[in-house]
Amino acid sequence: MAGEKTVETTGLLGWIDRRFPASKLFKEHMSEYYAPKNFNFWYFFGSLALLVLVIQIVTGIFLVMNYKPDGNLAFESVEFIMREVPWGWLIRYMHSTGASMFFVVVYLHMLRGLFYGSYRKPRELVWIFGMAIFLCLMGEAFMGYLLPWGQMSYWGAQVIVNLFSAIPFIGPELSLWIRGDYVVSDATLNRFFAFHVIAIPLVLIGLVVAHIIALHEVGSNNPDGVEIKDGPKDSKGRPIDGIPFHPFYSVHDLVGVAGFLIVFAAIVFFAPEMGGYFLEFNNFIPADSLKTPPHIAPVWYFTPFYSMLRAITADFTWVLAAAAVLGAVAMFLRGNLRGIWRIVVPVILLVVAVLLRVIDAKFWGVVAMGGSVVILFFLPWLDHSPVRSIRYRPTWHKYLYGIFIVTFLVLGYLGTQPPSPVFNLMSQIGTLIYLGFFLLMPVWSRLGTFKPVPERITFSAH
Ligand code: HEM
Repeated sequence: MAGEKTVETTGLLGWIDRRFPASKLFKEHMSEYYAPKNFNFWYFFGSLALLVLVIQIVTGIFLVMNYKPDGNLAFESVEFIMREVPWGWLIRYMHSTGASMFFVVVYLHMLRGLFYGSYRKPRELVWIFGMAIFLCLMGEAFMGYLLPWGQMSYWGAQVIVNLFSAIPFIGPELSLWIRGDYVVSDATLNRFFAFHVIAIPLVLIGLVVAHIIALHEVGSNNPDGVEIKDGPKDSKGRPIDGIPFHPFYSVHDLVGVAGFLIVFAAIVFFAPEMGGYFLEFNNFIPADSLKTPPHIAPVWYFTPFYSMLRAITADFTWVLAAAAVLGAVAMFLRGNLRGIWRIVVPVILLVVAVLLRVIDAKFWGVVAMGGSVVILFFLPWLDHSPVRSIRYRPTWHKYLYGIFIVTFLVLGYLGTQPPSPVFNLMSQIGTLIYLGFFLLMPVWSRLGTFKPVPERITFSAH
């Protein structure tokens, strides 16, 4: 702030400040970072994600001290950690529970963004860095899951890496290149270990830093979706609807940390396997390349996407092709695309409709699975609603969000189950709802009667 001291001049801090901007950084990002005063519990999850990241890194370091990334030793080294290493069981369960809790926290964090329109201008980059984090997290969890070298580790990796072979032309070579062998083997274990332990965590940390720098550049959104920077300011130019992050939100976040740690400890100490959802039962059997388990399913946090992969059967590509043709006609007749795009986009959709019937359904399964994640990157440009926050949207929008959340959960459940005709049909309907929610968002997000958005945030002290 103008005229205010940003560096200490005396003592140890003064010595440091003259060499490194410690006080300046603390002020910029903590004590003089003005955040809207109406944050609710949904705003806990960013700091909780940071906490879980730290837990994962610290417990991971201790696991690596006794883990052996070798096809002949890996499984036993994990058993050794569990039975012989002092507190090894605790470190291992904290790390395995942390992996699932990371996804719980991050899914809730993303859902908050969806509810309050936090991905919209000017926070597009905050969202895009977030999505890049999400991709890294998925890669990190997938590669980490191979390391215990149990049956699910092995066959899960086998199934997922094999998906790449569905890509036309380069697929088989690509999956060979990823595995480093014709089947998942020691070579695969070694490279996944390298990625899990150093490569991805480095990128992840860099992205988290970028995520927070981008957020602090534009300022936080809030449950009303109203910019505090556009509201009244005090004599020093600070938004009067903002409060310093420290001490107000650093203390507020401690409430979230306490709640989180209670849940986390309850799982670690009383239900680390979580009924087979956090640690699958088959993974307590050593990997056997000659014995395929009867039912292979990824860990719960991947299952919504896995369901969409399985949903795309040859028959179902007729439905998708019909949807693409309908989309092409609608775009041409009613879409608000301008100039050449009015022709190009419908033509692309028609080509996709034809390819849907020409290329193997397995490939389209991979496209649906990948697309269901990639589409989230585009959320800032798909949402055309005149207001940011769900609070001021038409009530039926809330039902749509509700349907979307239920669909995501049902897809998640279906992905854990062996396929059956009824479940396949449900996954197909779920896939249509999931993709329709985003692809049709440019249309539905503008429809309905919106509530008046207040000029300033609404807040009553409690
Ligand atoms: C390791 C994972 C992540 C960490 C450590 C992290 C950290 C944070 C922190 C500390 C905040 C500020 C506090 C808060 O608003 O809750 C934040 C805000 C935000 N994050 Fe993340 N984040 C992560 C992943 C993600 C992902 C996967 C997304 C979405 C794809 C995302 C989107 C956002 C958005 C949009 C905001 C601004 C929210 C607002 O101002 O309303 N983040 N993040």
